Amino acid sequence: MRIVLVGPPGAGKGTQAAFLAKNLSIPHISTGDLFRANISRQTELGKLAKSYMDAGNLVPDEVTIAMAKDRMEQPDAQNGFLLDGFPRNVSQAEALDETLKTEGLKLDAVLDLEVPDEEVVKRIAGRRICRNDSSHVYHVSYKAPKQEGVCDECGGELYQRDDDAEETVRKRLDVYHTQTEPIIDYYKGQDLVVTISALGAVDEVTQRAMEALKAKS
Ligand code: AP5
Ligand code: ZN
Repeated sequence: MRIVLVGPPGAGKGTQAAFLAKNLSIPHISTGDLFRANISRQTELGKLAKSYMDAGNLVPDEVTIAMAKDRMEQPDAQNGFLLDGFPRNVSQAEALDETLKTEGLKLDAVLDLEVPDEEVVKRIAGRRICRNDSSHVYHVSYKAPKQEGVCDECGGELYQRDDDAEETVRKRLDVYHTQTEPIIDYYKGQDLVVTISALGAVDEVTQRAMEALKAKS
């Protein structure tokens, strides 16, 4: 399947993508994770992306689209993928359609995770991520690691993202509502959207997501 995951920062896209990608045997492609990998390797792309990310703004389309395209061309993504954080505005959605069209492919579903802004702020304030693997995501109260600051899965150090300061989160939410939400209407026009509530326990949300995706497969 070719799936796009949409939702505000902190909706649980990364958390759900880890389970969904495993269940569906498709790679989880997160443009946020790709940028963070570039930042830790101190590449030119990483330096450019960091300045936008730290301010809560979108990284320019030109570099984002090229990076996403490159990742989607890798061998493991030939039979499907789960896109998390891309596309993030209508021009990125149009570029993705164009890329798929030239290969005779199309998306199967756009999974829209709904969560109120105030819940987003709570989730992000408590989020901790593993330095070894960004799919190991915790929350100080909702999904606490057994030992504070240490990843249950691999023993890696847990850290807080630079763009998770409350002021930056509010800016990211604003960017989401003004620039990203319009892609939901864009994809409604293609009858691809399934909307689910992202409130409740992580496994309840996964179950809802799997059921919603079944209807589109
Ligand atoms: P990105 O990395 O994509 O961040 P985001 O969209 O802001 O989303 P987050 O990663 O913050 O949240 P999430 O929805 O994955 O939630 P999570 O599962 O971690 O992008 C970062 C930046 O990169 C952007 O601001 C932009 O600058 C740039 N960028 C990326 N893509 C771009 C693009 N296409 N174009 C331009 N720029 C781009 O969960 C959050 C917390 O909640 C965790 O602690 C988790 O444990 C907890 N949690 C999850 N589910 C539940 C639940 N059901 N109940 C309770 N707690 C839960
Ligand atoms: Zn880990």
